[in-house]
Amino acid sequence: MTELHDAEAMISDLPPSPAVWCSGLHKRYRRRTAVDGVSFTVGRGEVMGLLGPNGAGKTSVIKMLLGLVRPDAGEVLLLGRSARDPRSRSRVGYLPELFRYQPWLTAAEVLALHVRLAGVAVPEAERRECLGTVGLADRAGDRVGGFSKGMQQRLGLAVALVARPELVVLDEPTSALDPVGRADVRDLLLSLRERGVAVLLNSHLIGEVERVCDRVVILDQGRIAASGTLPELLGRRELRLRLDGVGERAAARLAAVGRTTRSGDAFTVVLPAEEESGAVPGLVADLVGLGVRVHAVEPVRISLEERLLDILRTGHDEERP
Ligand SMILES: Nc1ncnc2c1ncn2[C@@H]1O[C@H](COP(=O)(O)OP(=O)(O)OP(=O)(O)O)[C@@H](O)[C@H]1O
Ligand SMILES: [Mg+2]
Repeated sequence: MTELHDAEAMISDLPPSPAVWCSGLHKRYRRRTAVDGVSFTVGRGEVMGLLGPNGAGKTSVIKMLLGLVRPDAGEVLLLGRSARDPRSRSRVGYLPELFRYQPWLTAAEVLALHVRLAGVAVPEAERRECLGTVGLADRAGDRVGGFSKGMQQRLGLAVALVARPELVVLDEPTSALDPVGRADVRDLLLSLRERGVAVLLNSHLIGEVERVCDRVVILDQGRIAASGTLPELLGRRELRLRLDGVGERAAARLAAVGRTTRSGDAFTVVLPAEEESGAVPGLVADLVGLGVRVHAVEPVRISLEERLLDILRTGHDEERP
């Protein structure tokens, strides 16, 4: 008996298993390979973006993770359990890419039905609050058959969130949303992360992914073309300055920040990876103090969009080993 308790104590001390773990996923549709050896993990409370062009295999990967499509090879664990285990499935919220709810049901009825299917007791007030979160509070009693495209997508989000999931999988959650709706979803994702809920997100709106995701996996023709945290993928940041009257001491001050190159009055300084927030204003103040005339200061980092296009054009990730 004590041994059992010891074992339980040991297990409860272990860090929680990742929200998603998959390894060597493979899928062919007839003679077409849709997914070819995909492996990644999504940690608890992590927001991960799945990016790639049309037909890259994003939706196929998501469906295999959720047990909706059987992989030809590979393994999946959701929340530490087999993807087929109902105990893990009931803790996962899912917004499918293409979906229609029964048009004769009201929004409130769709949520009630979903909560019953998930086997989680969510009181009515909480379900109503969930509709409010996606901006449908005043449409709770309306039939979804009369909903606009964006309103259907909002309802889909509410369905994905209502049963208190530990993992939320969203296949293009904002494709039909207006700009305010998109900003709301962004806030929603950040609040999920704060509560330790993991999110796997697939979107063509790369700016959006860049704003909310901790990590990104880029798929191309069924394979992982690149993956990593945003700083890893986007690489170094630079500071571009236009300066007049740079003497020896000012040059040394610039070099103290990072490797500096000069072309006429244009200076480029490579910023350190862990740049302190005061580094740039501190540098500018010192330069002015050293008699330098500062015409322009611009920190630059390439955008995820530029990086993605680069990776997809060259077919692989050149800057990483
Ligand atoms: N049920 C299916 N039957 C046959 N082929 C399929 C099926 N589902 C997906 N495919 C094929 O698998 C490949 C990947 O499709 P998938 O839907 O996963 O792409 P995606 O990355 O989600 O694209 P999109 O950005 O357009 O949603 C495509 O070539 C597609 O034609
Ligand atoms: Mg898709």
